[in-house]
Amino acid sequence: GTTLGASAAEKGRYFGAAVATGKLSTSVYTTILNREFNSVVAENEMKWDATEPQQGRFSYTGGDRLVSHAQANGMSVRGHALLWHQQEPGWAQGMSGSALRSAMINHVTQVATHFRGKIYAWDVVNEAFADGGSGGRRDSNLQRTGNDWIEAAFRAARAADPGAKLCYNDYNTDGVNAKSTGIYNMVRDFKSRGVPIDCVGFQSHLGTSLASDYQANLQRFADLGVDVQITELDVMTGGNQANIYGAVTRACMNVSRCTGITVWGVRDCDSWRGSDNALLFDCNGNKKAAYTNVLNALNAG
Ligand code: G3I
Repeated sequence: GTTLGASAAEKGRYFGAAVATGKLSTSVYTTILNREFNSVVAENEMKWDATEPQQGRFSYTGGDRLVSHAQANGMSVRGHALLWHQQEPGWAQGMSGSALRSAMINHVTQVATHFRGKIYAWDVVNEAFADGGSGGRRDSNLQRTGNDWIEAAFRAARAADPGAKLCYNDYNTDGVNAKSTGIYNMVRDFKSRGVPIDCVGFQSHLGTSLASDYQANLQRFADLGVDVQITELDVMTGGNQANIYGAVTRACMNVSRCTGITVWGVRDCDSWRGSDNALLFDCNGNKKAAYTNVLNALNAG
């Protein structure tokens, strides 16, 4: 293939980008998006604060706009994210206990129902594990409603949209470490008890080196019987950027249950990482060396 999306599709995979819908009217941005990518995710517009700014009052303007753009251009959509301890609307931040539990399950049900049939995979729960060596859950008001909040969310999402793949998504899970192993143990437990989970997202916000066991870590999750996806890829600029992009792409291609890759933005200047210049296109829309390495890795083999 000659584009990221077409090359990934030839291998039964997708190649996506996080989109800020406000930029869809910028032609250099949308030209690249439509040419290169066959999957999108909303960078912000499907988060809790955006979709339920007041309790029980839902707002889908941005998310609907992205879905329309995707459908008009033959792109699949990842949904991000039903529950996350960040970007909670103000009204939820102060809640706790059974009131919060009801509110969060209602949120999952309402949003997944609204987008039912239009989402390839949902990040049902985002970033619920702690950094560091504990391997345990992150403290949050969601976690304090009870350790079963994650499985309750997955069950509600399955009931609302039985056709969407349901993912757990996190960062700093780029190799075998305490955090990724904590998540691994949760997924294994969910699979053994029939809790509906279909995929694990590896955000892959990367620095100047890549864990040597990156692929092995993806494979151990796949071996549990879930798909794996690279969900928010970006890589710090510097001598290794293009090499790391190539290595991540090869790792996904080498894992048969790695179903696709999403980069967290289109051009360097669209990125939350600012001066890291972490993406595949420069601000003028030119392809970088990292782009060439990704394309070659998609087309290899
Ligand atoms: O929408 C408001 C706007 O109304 C307001 O005027 C403006 C002024 O501050 O802020 C706007 O919200 C900002 C939003 O991006 C949209 O631009 C938030 O302040 C800002 O915090 C938010 O940052 C996003 C961040 O998640 C927090 O939600 C980034 O764009 C987004 O790239 C980042 O993405 C996360 C993933 O969701 C999860 N994994 C990590 C990743 C990077 O942090």
